[in-house]
Amino acid sequence: MYSKTVMEHFTNPRNVGEIENADGIGEVGNVKCGDIMRMYLKIEDNTIKDVKFKTFGCGSAIASSSMATELIKGKTIDEAMNLTNKAVADALDGLPPIKMHCSVLAEQAIKAALLDYSKKNNIHIEGLEDIN
Ligand code: FES
Ligand code: FES
Repeated sequence: MYSKTVMEHFTNPRNVGEIENADGIGEVGNVKCGDIMRMYLKIEDNTIKDVKFKTFGCGSAIASSSMATELIKGKTIDEAMNLTNKAVADALDGLPPIKMHCSVLAEQAIKAALLDYSKKNNIHIEGLEDIN
């Protein structure tokens, strides 16, 4: 049912934890299953210098958070904004259809953290107004 990559990221998730004095924190919950994901971003020079997550949820949500953090680390804000849940699922070599919403949580958590960052710094990030 699960790809090797999903299992690998579930059993050995990357970037678990919190960032003290994070520049942006995003927390999202999934109404369908009740799972919660929190993302912490350290941002410097428009670049995601560090990212950590805490996920109270299923294996797919943990694997999705782990992969999503790997995909945005070192990238620009715009690149992080463009990360879709499909890209996360693809990088995991696929998720079962009923588990696709777990990857949506990862995309939303990153956007929520970027929104928090933009509000704290009073800057505008293209594409965030619609989730505001
Ligand atoms: Fe139980 Fe997501 S539904 S962990
Ligand atoms: Fe809800 Fe995975 S089952 S996030």
